[in-house]
Amino acid sequence: MGHDRLKRLMKRGTDFLGCEVAILGGAMSWISERHLVSALSNAGAFGVIACGAMSPELLDTEIAETKKRTERPFGVNLITMHPQLSELIDVCARHGVSHVVLAGGLPPPGSIDRIKGSGAKLICFAPALALAKKLVRSGVDALVIEGMEAGGHIGPVSTSVLAQEILPPLAADVPIFVAGGIGHGGLIAGYLEMGAVGVQLGTRFVCANECIAHPNFKKAFIRASARDAITSVQIDPRLPVIPVRAIRNKEMESFAAKQREVAGLLDAGTVEMAEAQLQIEHYWAGALRRAVIEGDVESGSVMAGQSVGMVKGEAPVADILRDLIDEAAHALERRSVHA
Ligand SMILES: Cc1cc2nc3c(=O)[nH]c(=O)nc-3n(C[C@H](O)[C@H](O)[C@H](O)COP(=O)(O)O)c2cc1C
Repeated sequence: MGHDRLKRLMKRGTDFLGCEVAILGGAMSWISERHLVSALSNAGAFGVIACGAMSPELLDTEIAETKKRTERPFGVNLITMHPQLSELIDVCARHGVSHVVLAGGLPPPGSIDRIKGSGAKLICFAPALALAKKLVRSGVDALVIEGMEAGGHIGPVSTSVLAQEILPPLAADVPIFVAGGIGHGGLIAGYLEMGAVGVQLGTRFVCANECIAHPNFKKAFIRASARDAITSVQIDPRLPVIPVRAIRNKEMESFAAKQREVAGLLDAGTVEMAEAQLQIEHYWAGALRRAVIEGDVESGSVMAGQSVGMVKGEAPVADILRDLIDEAAHALERRSVHA
């Protein structure tokens, strides 16, 4: 009974994504590559390639390699501030990628038309109600609302508040997926009942067997509790940096020094603000790579959301998904019994 109801609540999401379970594997730089993405799609969810740190050539290869591993749909996540965004959009179009997820701020002029013109469905992040409405007016096909409990770059507002502000007025107009802090299927059921068509999870999938993250990175996840996933602090008011949520370590302190260095370059007029912010983003990409690929979890960045406390061990993607689905179905069944 619970499973049937879950299916019905996810139907708009599964129809939109073309998969069985309306759970997006949130794109994670260095992590969401061919293996994890194809494993998620093959298990009935929806994998998304992270191309924040990729060149157009690398993305081209990654899409081709993912296609070799799954015949099911998957998406590509592009970051709006990537200097080669236009070429990356071309790569997606050439491959006939069915869904593009645009992250990192409002889409630059022309990008919405170009992505949709390729036949892809466009999913954008909406950090506030006003921006969500603007994105819907601009023609985006679906929204992700991601709260500050999430891992990686985050906004200032919690998932629960975004869901209350954005789902009631907009859920009927456009499919909305909720992300940030989801570690148990019971919460998935809650957001679906509020009008979401599905959810996006990142942290819960890092310790999948199919995920290529270094064993040290996975170990750090398994050991950490929610309170270890802290946010970076902005040091200089003139240099607005997007906060990052990661597991507490030495690297979180080094970021303060990096900000001071970049603020010094701004002061000296050596760099403009846009370049300063790009330097910060490159810094994060490098720090995350050190931790994910090289396993240096002290001087690398172990980006993780607060749901990291619910990651208890390694498991196949299919098992993680099954647990989430069973928990969601069980929660729905319990509520209907008590209704
Ligand atoms: C290690 C890590 C790297 C991430 N990298 C990206 C990224 O490159 N692009 C992006 O849009 N989101 C990125 N995210 C956010 C995820 O796509 C997803 O929205 C988020 O993890 C959901 O919240 P959760 O971690 O609480 O499940 C990242 C998250 C993590 C944990």
